[in-house]
Amino acid sequence: MVVSYIKRSPNVNTSRQGGLLNRLLFTLRNKVKVKNGNTINVASATRIRQCHISIKGTGNKLMIDDGANLKGVHIEINGNNCSLTVGKHSVIGEGCYLSARENGTTLTIGENCMFSRNVKVMTSDGHDILCANERINPAKSITIGSHVWLADGAVVLKGNDIGDHSVVGINAVVTHDVPTNSIAAGNPAKIIKSDICWDEKLTY
Ligand SMILES: CC(C)(COP(=O)(O)OP(=O)(O)OC[C@H]1O[C@@H](n2cnc3c(N)ncnc32)[C@H](O)[C@@H]1OP(=O)(O)O)[C@@H](O)C(=O)NCCC(=O)NCCS
Repeated sequence: MVVSYIKRSPNVNTSRQGGLLNRLLFTLRNKVKVKNGNTINVASATRIRQCHISIKGTGNKLMIDDGANLKGVHIEINGNNCSLTVGKHSVIGEGCYLSARENGTTLTIGENCMFSRNVKVMTSDGHDILCANERINPAKSITIGSHVWLADGAVVLKGNDIGDHSVVGINAVVTHDVPTNSIAAGNPAKIIKSDICWDEKLTY
């Protein structure tokens, strides 16, 4: 069983009936490390297990909406007044890393998204880069639209939004916004197809 522990009574809310039991299950099934003054909201019918959740700073919010399905995901919030949202019925696969880091940044994932394995989405580079004593790589928020498919190993860097119904190809590194209904692939990712849509079902 995954060891779970909570430091200094964080605010973990589960909205399902039997909230206390669900809160207990959430903390038993995942490794949760949250400082005081932060909030985790978990909506109904979610499946969240084997995840590592770390929240440092204060005024941060993690929201996991109805029906979301997360397994073996590493979620990190580090800063003050940051938020990270996983929308309704989104599925996030094993080895994914979602990070909202640096004050005030938001990482928003829409509804019905599908993230394959080892996807990384991060609002910060994690270290300063300076030029003439000025920082040149500030953190920037990221919005992933609804019904977005991020393929195995895709990476979305700070400040890049992905439009609704789009696809990011295997091992792509996204360094610019991706419009709606498009496929971005490669490193750095380029738009290879437009006016597409995708379906979770596989026909053969
Ligand atoms: C994104 C993806 C679905 C696109 O497939 P597609 O629409 O059939 O694209 P195509 O194979 O027709 O490729 C179109 C062009 O983009 C290029 N391209 C496609 N995928 C690429 C990639 N991942 N990196 C770099 N270039 C890529 C092709 O070389 C081709 O270039 P060309 O026109 O110059 O020859 C596919 O590349 C992919 O990433 N599949 C893996 C999905 C996955 O991880 N599944 C796991 C289960 S969730």
